[in-house]
Amino acid sequence: MSFHGPGTSKVMSELLQPDPAGLKRAAEKIQSGGLIAFPTETVYGLAADASNDVAVARIFSAKGRPSFNPLIIHVPTVAIAEKYVVFSEIARQLADSFWPGALTLVLPRTADCAISKLASAGLDTLAIRIPGHRLALQFLAECDRPLAAPSANPSGRISPTTAQHVIDGLGDAISGVLDGGACPVGVESTVVGFENNSPVLLRPGGVTKEALEAAVGEVLLHSDNGTISSPGMLLSHYAPACPVRLNATDKKPGEMFLGFGREQDKLSDINLSEAGDLTEATAKLFAAFHMLDEMQVQAIAVGPIPEIGLGVAINDRLRRAAAPRN
Ligand code: TXA
Ligand code: MG
Repeated sequence: MSFHGPGTSKVMSELLQPDPAGLKRAAEKIQSGGLIAFPTETVYGLAADASNDVAVARIFSAKGRPSFNPLIIHVPTVAIAEKYVVFSEIARQLADSFWPGALTLVLPRTADCAISKLASAGLDTLAIRIPGHRLALQFLAECDRPLAAPSANPSGRISPTTAQHVIDGLGDAISGVLDGGACPVGVESTVVGFENNSPVLLRPGGVTKEALEAAVGEVLLHSDNGTISSPGMLLSHYAPACPVRLNATDKKPGEMFLGFGREQDKLSDINLSEAGDLTEATAKLFAAFHMLDEMQVQAIAVGPIPEIGLGVAINDRLRRAAAPRN
């Protein structure tokens, strides 16, 4: 038995309803420097006022996130984004094609950018997006300030796609969670930077490379010898507590099998999409990992997933989940 004396008791965060009263309460917490988790179309974000250094510092400490890993800034309109970053012509085309939506653009900070330097980890660029989720946009309007928001999970763990996932991971470290149900996309935004004015894919995500290329032509893949860095792409990430084995075609003793498509159905304890639909599989991926984590399974085996469209983002997250832990 353990004794929790004064000062050691944990304060659980509030579950805030997606109605005017809940939004108002959430915005008040942000305006007074607090942390609120909110739904986006991709995953739940852990928001703080991006112009408040102390509030931004609280995000890093709540998540246990290394301070060299910069955050994404969320804004409600392109006009507001222009106060903080400088758009090139091609960046503007991408914003016009995909915002609001699951695309983050890494662009130079404006000379008088009011966003905390801590949020961009001291870099002279800023990652920014307009989320494609009604409640997220209402929340941004109610807060009336830019929101710095990484995914609302302890650093290195699986991103949350429901309010309950947030409470399970960070419940005692934040002020509240705005409950918007399950996130429709289910995987983080695609992060695009620019090298000599050409778009470079820094993180595969909810907008596919194929869709980006249909809008603006060739998109380069990030390479470590390039001039832009992607500090968040640590290999072990999105990791459940137990070992993960990829491209499995059988199930070993003690393993739970995460499958995809009809052919893997016989082996599957959880099938991400019986119909072999990558959009459905993406939406279910993190929830499946959270469920297996909660069941405290010994090991997870994952069947092969095609490396096309959203499959690229799924396989990226799976490789990180399976990587040696650091
Ligand atoms: O879908 C999403 O993007 C979610 C929701 C909440 O918007 N957010 C999210 O944030 O995934 P986070 O912090 O987990 O991932 C941010 C990624 C990291 O890989 C980080 O290194 C990269 O964006 N990033 C941020 N600022 C950057 C910059 N200035 N240059 C290069 N990469 C940057
Ligand atoms: Mg994250």
